[in-house]
Amino acid sequence: AVMVGRRVRSRRRWWGVVRVFDEFEEAASTPVGRLRQVVDAMAVEMHAGLASEGGSKLKMLLTFVDNLPDGSENGIYYALHVGGTNFRLLRIQLGGQRAILEYDVERELIPQHLMTSTSEELFDFIALSLKEFVERKGNNLQIPQVRGTNLGLTFSFPVKQMSVSSGTLIKWTKGFAIEDMIGKDIVECLQRALSRRGLDMTVTALVNDSVGTLALGHFYDKDTVAAVVIGTGTNACYLERADAVIKCQGLLTTSGGMVINMEWGNFWSSHLPRTSYDIDLDAESQNPNDQGFEKMISGMYLGDIVRRVILRMSLESDVFGPVSSKLLARFVLSTPSMAAMHEDYSPNLSEIHDVPLKVRKLVVKICDVVTRRAARLAAAGIVGILKKIGRDGTGGITSGRIKSGKSGKMRRTVVAMDGGLYMSYTMFREYLNEAVAEILGEEIAPYVILKVMEDGSGIGAAMLAASNSAQSVDTVQ
Ligand code: GLC
Repeated sequence: AVMVGRRVRSRRRWWGVVRVFDEFEEAASTPVGRLRQVVDAMAVEMHAGLASEGGSKLKMLLTFVDNLPDGSENGIYYALHVGGTNFRLLRIQLGGQRAILEYDVERELIPQHLMTSTSEELFDFIALSLKEFVERKGNNLQIPQVRGTNLGLTFSFPVKQMSVSSGTLIKWTKGFAIEDMIGKDIVECLQRALSRRGLDMTVTALVNDSVGTLALGHFYDKDTVAAVVIGTGTNACYLERADAVIKCQGLLTTSGGMVINMEWGNFWSSHLPRTSYDIDLDAESQNPNDQGFEKMISGMYLGDIVRRVILRMSLESDVFGPVSSKLLARFVLSTPSMAAMHEDYSPNLSEIHDVPLKVRKLVVKICDVVTRRAARLAAAGIVGILKKIGRDGTGGITSGRIKSGKSGKMRRTVVAMDGGLYMSYTMFREYLNEAVAEILGEEIAPYVILKVMEDGSGIGAAMLAASNSAQSVDTVQ
């Protein structure tokens, strides 16, 4: 009788766990109808963000990049990429005619303590790393010989640009919190740190990582009109007509266009499938009420959503037994470990320890729900951009010709993709690609190509450093 009683209780507990899962799955669901609402909301918010300063949670920042690389760039360029988790140093040699003759990249983890230190400490670390890199890679050139060399800086945070090579930090995201940096000119900080280290290089391009990715995409393929980064954080940029940037009347560019850094991580809409776990994650984060879209999509957060669901379940049942106390700490479950559990094809799911097989299967299902939702929301964001620029085919189909926007044939459209999550989490990438095609429908989907641009964020900055050595953008007023 005792045995039976125990079995009944544990079965009840198992049902409790299943109920938690079902509720979560339902709340996080992304049927295509809901995704289309997100597409529309994204396009609407883009308009609002372009219409007036503060008109939307989407900042729609001017980048002053109006001419994208076209493959004719020549010479040796360096770039630095300050991202979310990594810091990268790059050196490329361009040979014109779309050729990258030589390419070197080194990655370093940004020491945790620097993310919350002072701007001087952060930029000193960066300048020292660059100096060592130049010494290692400079073809045995002496430091003085890099004099005057142009440098591109990819700074993956929201920046209010004054020109293509200057801009101030608006706010931090992704766990960085260096208070004295806010409002400061990033290029000035770097330039000062470089001269403290005796490096005479000139920063000729300051770009967001999404903009770097777009630049590399365009270098290879002129149909590239937008770029998306999905790594520690997430963001997108795209090529807009200068006259559509209503909030900046009289914007003159040589090409008539301008790249807009959307900062889509901060997008919000009531159509997003938000769960109680998202609400808790946000409330306990360093930046509550901020970066809502990013918190559902990017690498910094996905593992932590999974952890929260498992924690909730472990309160319903003892099936998670000994692991439950570990689960209380934020971010203990990283997104790379989550991906490893999710993509574990061994029969006994050996990536997950200490729990029975049926519980392991459930953990895999949780990872699947979290990743699928993230990937599908990012896909909706991408189609939202295409809709805004009239490349989603909603212009309709007449007499067999697919139209785009007001008139004309549907054009081939390329979106450049970069970021650790998209690059290395296969399931995420597949869900995203599938969802873009699903939302667009089979007539339009073949015209839209997502192209991976590995290290595009940094390489693109080096290319922009090359092509923007001479300024070409001006504002009248
Ligand atoms: C965060 C930053 C944004 C960056 C993105 C991807 O959202 O605010 O500037 O592009 O992360 O790294």
